[in-house]
Amino acid sequence: MKKWIAILATSTLLSPIAAHAADDYPSRAITWIVPFSAGGPTDSMARNIANRLSQEIKQTILVENKPGAGGTIGATAAARSDPDGYTFLVGHIGYMAAAPSLYSELRYDPVKDFEAVFRFPDTPLVLLVGENSSYKTIDELVAFGKANPEQLNFSNAGVGSTSHLVAAMFASKAGMKITPIAYKGAGPALNDLMGGQVDAMFDQTNTALPQTRGGKVRALGLTSDKRMDQFPGVPTMKEKAVPGFQVSTWYGLYAPKGTPSNVIDTLSSAYQTMMQDKAFTQKMSDQGILLLSDADYAPKAFQQYTADEGKRWAQVIKEAGIKLK
Ligand code: MLT
Repeated sequence: MKKWIAILATSTLLSPIAAHAADDYPSRAITWIVPFSAGGPTDSMARNIANRLSQEIKQTILVENKPGAGGTIGATAAARSDPDGYTFLVGHIGYMAAAPSLYSELRYDPVKDFEAVFRFPDTPLVLLVGENSSYKTIDELVAFGKANPEQLNFSNAGVGSTSHLVAAMFASKAGMKITPIAYKGAGPALNDLMGGQVDAMFDQTNTALPQTRGGKVRALGLTSDKRMDQFPGVPTMKEKAVPGFQVSTWYGLYAPKGTPSNVIDTLSSAYQTMMQDKAFTQKMSDQGILLLSDADYAPKAFQQYTADEGKRWAQVIKEAGIKLK
């Protein structure tokens, strides 16, 4: 008899018990890794959402910047973090969809090593030049770029960032060669544009808007499908320069693989509740952020979207001949 009890006990001990966070989750502060330097669009979006969501879950959410290599350094750290429900990645289109087609030594798999928790709203991008720039229209910028290969410096947030990808796609479709200048985030990239160190950049609407309104930069074009009230008189890229040129940065929260499902359920339902707060979501729209549907925000839809986007960007990068440089 004893032998059977021993076997049963051992097998019970060894059986893979489904991970489950304690019922009082979250019982301590949560960390969100943002893999760009502070002050850029991803950092700004993450902090706004973290501050408002912390009210829902009644727990502090700490945003930790881990910049470098287009977001892949922070994403690697998050993939290796303990799946205990207290460390998450703020992911986005660059290092969660484009990176596998650009970095041959990527040390994480955006789909296999993460579980989507919820998707943030999107941000289109804005083609910006400095306030003293001689370029007043997209056509003038393209004319110079075509006549002077590699003379136009575009700042970006690192290889694979949307500021890098969108500038490369634009150059390829417009038939010109530009020189990309990489920074650790769009924040420092925008600072150097305003300081006149570089000629142009694509920045997301939420951080481009205040500088455009302040007259520090000039918006030449939008990568959105339609013109935006927040950028009066600014044409879309597709109507002025490149037919079909439409792209937005997408973002969202990811947990390392193996995070208990009740953690993901707790956070995604708190987020869905938060996104019913019309005063909060109106503030996002006012910043040029494009709200999505509740169905888009959900974990399973976002997990599938991440996988689909990885396939799509592999094709876009191949067709545009975008390289890691
Ligand atoms: C990018 O893709 O360019 C990033 O969003 C930049 C940033 O958020 O700092």
